[in-house]
Amino acid sequence: MSQQKTPSLMVIGGQWGDEGKGKIVDLLSGGFSAVVRYNGGNNAGHTVRVGERHFALHLIPSGIIHPAVQCYMGANMVIDPIALKDELEGLAGQRVAVDGRLSISTRAALILPTHQALDTAREGSRGVKAIGTTGRGIGPAYQDVAQRRGLRAWILRDQKTFEAYCQSLMETHNRELETVFGAEPVNVAEATPPLVEAQRVLAPLVADIGPRIRAHHDRGEAVLFEGAQGVMLDVVWGTYPYVTSSSCLPASAAPSCGIGPAHLGDVIGVMKAYVTRVGGGPFPSEDHGAAGETIRERGHEFGTTTGRPRRCGWFDLVAARHAIEVAGIDALAITKLDVLDGIETLKVAVAYELDDGTVLDHVPADAETLAKVRPRYREISGWRNPCEGVVEEESLPVEAEAYLQFLERQLGVPVVIVSTGPRRSETMTRGTSALAQVVRPILENA
Ligand code: IMP
Repeated sequence: MSQQKTPSLMVIGGQWGDEGKGKIVDLLSGGFSAVVRYNGGNNAGHTVRVGERHFALHLIPSGIIHPAVQCYMGANMVIDPIALKDELEGLAGQRVAVDGRLSISTRAALILPTHQALDTAREGSRGVKAIGTTGRGIGPAYQDVAQRRGLRAWILRDQKTFEAYCQSLMETHNRELETVFGAEPVNVAEATPPLVEAQRVLAPLVADIGPRIRAHHDRGEAVLFEGAQGVMLDVVWGTYPYVTSSSCLPASAAPSCGIGPAHLGDVIGVMKAYVTRVGGGPFPSEDHGAAGETIRERGHEFGTTTGRPRRCGWFDLVAARHAIEVAGIDALAITKLDVLDGIETLKVAVAYELDDGTVLDHVPADAETLAKVRPRYREISGWRNPCEGVVEEESLPVEAEAYLQFLERQLGVPVVIVSTGPRRSETMTRGTSALAQVVRPILENA
């Protein structure tokens, strides 16, 4: 297998987002001709560390750090033009040359300042049932797409059209803000110039990305598809309504790019060695005690986009199995194994139990039931010797290796990548599965 050329691959989040996908995608990117982001917007965020340099990315695929990689932003993304312009300027400031390497789908939806105002107003009106959104206007922008009144990236090509469409939609949003939510309208005259400034920067990047991605495929070049958020935040298969508004499942990359599903590849699901979630909604294996606090502190579990402290808990096999099944995850990358260093006894949720004694081995569709379940835990010995920075499979503490093998047995998929620290170098390929053999040479050259 290692002699064959690299196939296309997909990397997605297998939990509630923030699994460390950015680092894994960054490491793999160098082995691919192109990297595609296909869902969400600047609700996502990660920091890529290359040596002493840190790159904060929210919208642009992490492949951009690699000079030879083409990057694409799919039609199912929602793009805040001002945030994207700022991100491009940030990269330019760090001397990352983007020229000709970033394309935005003509059909990607745009986020306006009024979408953000609507997001905030709607969250305020939900009271205790607030979703805890990132406030970036993601939900209202996807709502406009479904209502068939959204703005799509092709309008960035012409300043006059762009300005007129933006102003008209912002006026519509303002009426909604005032009448439905009793909220302050956005000052359209003040909101327009920064949008137009962004339009000038972004106009040359708008393109029909499907033919370009198909051309990579036709030339036999491998493409890496990067999903944002995670399966448990998927708008259909996540913990609805406490989810984001896009499909986080890998198959949705095909319609987002305008390509057939045959162009997609095997799926690597990224999961932390424990679980975190940010915002509201059910989280069965959340630990409200000292262990949760230790994980938060040691794992620096504070949001990259909003700075909010993340809720922390134990690995949840029920949720992980759900993610593997509905997303078709072929192998796992387990991140932040080192954060569990020194915890004497680890817990893993193996099933859910309801008050009447009913045992659930699956994630129920309704969030209210999920909020009531109590996890049944299996206790597992932790490890005394640290995993932190370990880069050889053979050098992992035996208990850590046993933990990974337990997860593999329970989930039925191999763990092919293990991350033991934030640096690129603190990563190992694991095992001899077909996917381990695909990623090993790429990671070795990263
Ligand atoms: P929205 O995507 O801003 O509408 O937020 C909906 C829910 O998804 C909230 O609970 C957010 O905290 C969560 N969320 C959205 N994007 C991310 C992410 O990239 N990582 C983790 N949570 C996210």
